Amino acid sequence: MSGIKIGVIGGLGHIGLVHSACLAELGYETIACDIDLGKISAANEGKVPFREPGLQALVEANRKKGRLRFVREVAELEAADVVYICVDTPPLASGAPDTSNVDSVVQAVAAGRKRPLVIALKSTVPVGTARRLSRYLAENGLSGHVAIVSNPEFLREGSAVDDFWHPARIVVGGESEEAVAQIAALYSPPGVPVLTTSWENAELIKYASNAFLALKISFINEIAGLSEKLGGDIRVVSRGIGLDPRISPHFLEAGVGFSGPCLEKDLRSLIQQFTAAGLEPQLLSSALVVNHEQRAAVVRKLLRRLGTLNGKRICVLGMAFKPQTDDVRNSHSLPIVQHLIALGSQVAVYDPWVKGPQEAGLAAAELPGVKWAATAYEAAAGAEGLIILTAWPEFRKLDLERLRSSMARPVIVDGRNLFDPAAMRSLGFDYQGVGICAV
Ligand code: UGA
Repeated sequence: MSGIKIGVIGGLGHIGLVHSACLAELGYETIACDIDLGKISAANEGKVPFREPGLQALVEANRKKGRLRFVREVAELEAADVVYICVDTPPLASGAPDTSNVDSVVQAVAAGRKRPLVIALKSTVPVGTARRLSRYLAENGLSGHVAIVSNPEFLREGSAVDDFWHPARIVVGGESEEAVAQIAALYSPPGVPVLTTSWENAELIKYASNAFLALKISFINEIAGLSEKLGGDIRVVSRGIGLDPRISPHFLEAGVGFSGPCLEKDLRSLIQQFTAAGLEPQLLSSALVVNHEQRAAVVRKLLRRLGTLNGKRICVLGMAFKPQTDDVRNSHSLPIVQHLIALGSQVAVYDPWVKGPQEAGLAAAELPGVKWAATAYEAAAGAEGLIILTAWPEFRKLDLERLRSSMARPVIVDGRNLFDPAAMRSLGFDYQGVGICAV
């Protein structure tokens, strides 16, 4: 397939940049197009706008080889044979995603096009979007040579590069057999199932996958609540459930719940699509309720131990929505810290990759009075309670004696079950995890 030229719109977003860099690494001449001029000039000097393991090196290597470059104007994709759409679809008040960015870039890239072009939709869009856009192409006399396919993305932040090289499956939906085959052939490693199907099925597969992952997490969190009350240990229960290959051990870690830019947004969008179709989903809404309860439970556990949080110094470890990322978009940590502030706590936070509000893209007013510490020990100094919210590997390696002696009161509520409760108690901590009976 050498000689094929690729364009990626939304090329400096998380999905877009990982995609661009990996396609360039495969040997395709790739142009990543983005509206953010600052990010473009930084990227053309080899600077990646967010942290994602392995990505910086890939961008740098392919940029130097001349296979990857960054541009502002969609018109510069004129020579591309395939254009991936990776722009965001932010949620509207109704929960439905706003597809106006997708619509306008598809129109822009197709406008006046004379040569064959395949447009591959990677942005997560409501079921029916690819068909609607395809109708637009037909109405504008473009459908003879411009085709749309739906090619949903399953990359996870923090392991996105690795996920690109080792996908569990590749899904391509569309009506043009030729266009579907072209996208499937661009990258499908040996042994990886390739599912070619309709636009609607491909779009639905994306939503149903994220919704199912969210359901699994909320399921184990709901069981964790009972386990905690009845003397169980959810880590063991989870292992016992996950050993059944019909269930699998993945996404069965109880904790403070799912967060980040995708799972909740996609779940809300799917619920909205049910409603718009005149249906009422039962399971999906419950997953959201359980998830929000997990956040409240962490604060309740702290309150139970300290009586009040008013005037108390509280340390929060973990601001990113998951480890190996600096992404705080829709991170559970934000509403939890805001809840602590509302209850009168003086909060100090520490995250290995999120060092302050600006670099996290937060306005200082979102977390008023919060101290951003340089180390976990600094954040814990003088604290009467400590909450763990992100499962960073470095937290597991903390010097626990040092941590305890720096705290005014050794109370830990661990929203990620990083430690063994008995060992923590023997070290003098008042320690409570999730789904593990406190003795
Ligand atoms: C998710 C999906 O996993 C990807 O397949 C999908 O491509 C992506 O959304 C997307 O739609 O773009 P991501 O949000 O990057 O990926 O991260 P996940 O690994 O799914 O984690 C989401 C949240 O669930 C995190 O807060 C994580 O801590 C939490 N989680 C995960 C649990 O609480 N328990 C688990 O067992 C697993």
